[in-house]
Amino acid sequence: MAATVQMKVSPEDLSQVPQTGERIPNPGIMVIFGASGDLTKRKLLPALFHLEQVGLLPKNFAIVGVARRPLGDEFAADMREGIVEFGSVDNSDPRLEEFTSKISYYALSFDDPSHYAGLKTELDRIAKDKGIGSDRLFYLATAPEYFASIIENLGTQGMAQPEHGRVGVVIEKPFGHDLDSAKALNRELQAVLSERQIYRIDHYLGKETVQNIMAFRFANGIFEPVWNRRYIDHVQLTVAETLGVEGRGGYYESAGVLRDMIQNHMFQLMSLVAMEPPSSFDATPVRDEKVKVLNAVRPLVPEEILQRTVRGQYDEGFVDGQKLPAYRAEPSVAPASNTETFAAIKLDVDNWRWAGVPFYLRSGKRLAKHVTEIVIEFRRPPLLAFGKIQIGTLEPNRLVLQIQPEEGIKMEIKAKRPGATMQLTSVALDFSYSDFGPTDKATGYERLLYDAMIGDTTLFHRADMVEAAWRIATPILDVWGSIPPRDFPNYAAMSWGPASADDLIHRDGRHWRNP
Ligand SMILES: NC(=O)c1ccc[n+]([C@@H]2O[C@H](COP(=O)([O-])OP(=O)(O)OC[C@H]3O[C@@H](n4cnc5c(N)ncnc54)[C@H](OP(=O)(O)O)[C@@H]3O)[C@@H](O)[C@H]2O)c1
Repeated sequence: MAATVQMKVSPEDLSQVPQTGERIPNPGIMVIFGASGDLTKRKLLPALFHLEQVGLLPKNFAIVGVARRPLGDEFAADMREGIVEFGSVDNSDPRLEEFTSKISYYALSFDDPSHYAGLKTELDRIAKDKGIGSDRLFYLATAPEYFASIIENLGTQGMAQPEHGRVGVVIEKPFGHDLDSAKALNRELQAVLSERQIYRIDHYLGKETVQNIMAFRFANGIFEPVWNRRYIDHVQLTVAETLGVEGRGGYYESAGVLRDMIQNHMFQLMSLVAMEPPSSFDATPVRDEKVKVLNAVRPLVPEEILQRTVRGQYDEGFVDGQKLPAYRAEPSVAPASNTETFAAIKLDVDNWRWAGVPFYLRSGKRLAKHVTEIVIEFRRPPLLAFGKIQIGTLEPNRLVLQIQPEEGIKMEIKAKRPGATMQLTSVALDFSYSDFGPTDKATGYERLLYDAMIGDTTLFHRADMVEAAWRIATPILDVWGSIPPRDFPNYAAMSWGPASADDLIHRDGRHWRNP
């Protein structure tokens, strides 16, 4: 086992980190469509309250929940409960009362155009009462089939393009089902909104450690010189979940792990690892560099897809003596379902920095450990002058960027074991994000909501990024769709996936780092 050297962050260190002056968003109204749903109560309202607690919401601010069912004041009361429960907020916090007074509800049917004039009147009334200008943020916490009609109706009523102020629209994934549907969605959005008004949210990109990938790469001069094909052997990205589909079988049947996880979150992680340094950290240069990575990924041709991709589906298994059902036995899942709950893919990024450095991506449900991490594996030294130690037997240096559940950065290096003879051992230089203090109250949506309110699109998907990602994923889905898997289910619940996923990387003389 590797020894560990802890990198501790002291409060003194933290106080010396220069803090940039945070802007307070303009007074405005946030309108949440689908507000009686799960996402609003569990994530959005707790995140907004956390922003209020740290002074990042404007004084004049209102939240209007919109959904179909008739609700009155009980909506605000329900949201308050959600903030306490999911935001780990003390029910006696004096700010709760005032915050709740900013919440109201408006009943409307998304696809009924006649309801939107009333919504506009209501928003204008609230704005006048509370001294709010025309800044609006519309958050579509709805199923994607409603995006087009909601946005079209906002446009028709003049709510999408006010004469003054900023209007943004946040949409939740999925951003299309394949390349054609993603293009169609982009056309529908752009028929009413300019691209800079559109915030395609990806809660993964709100995570501290994900944002830290850019800080790590571009605020530390020592890594850039080795961040390329000359020093890096390959890159592994793993998003492993121990959970199964947890009652979401109906949704998952139409998605699968490639659509649900790899095409969006994992391609974003990959582009952060592989991107060139942007000319500034403004939205356009950062997103330009990220999309260049996706455009440089060589789409797999059908013959390669069978060689370079692996799909799997979980069988039953046991945890603590308790039996877990196979995917095909989950509620709302077809008994002969061919939906993949695991995938592993080997991709190449065809540019000068990464030519010849494979990126191995894998993700799955019901895997052995809940973990998201990126492993940068460096080339071995060309020669070892340590007697009998063979170069090939030496574990290479690895840099591990841990995204969840532990958040941190670990560098695996070699050191001499104390003693009379030369024996090498692995040591981990370990930095844990928890050293910064507790961050457990955050839902991951705080940063993204704040950015959307101040008009910063850096951490959101852009239309061309979405399409570039589908350009990689769609040929794989097409081949998988045309050749049904013969071996499903092919991995036991709580394992590391099908044996063919190991073969995929073993063929190249490498192996997965199973944490
Ligand atoms: N839940 C999460 O943690 C999570 C995470 C990431 C992404 N998402 C995505 O976010 C979206 C919303 O998720 P959710 O879990 O909150 O969904 P949900 O619990 O199913 O809620 C759906 C909401 O939409 C409203 N609605 C549906 N049809 C309507 C119509 N025709 N007119 C007016 N209102 C209508 C419902 O209102 P009524 O109840 O009044 O009918 C409800 O407020 C989904 O696309 C999901 O994929 C969710």
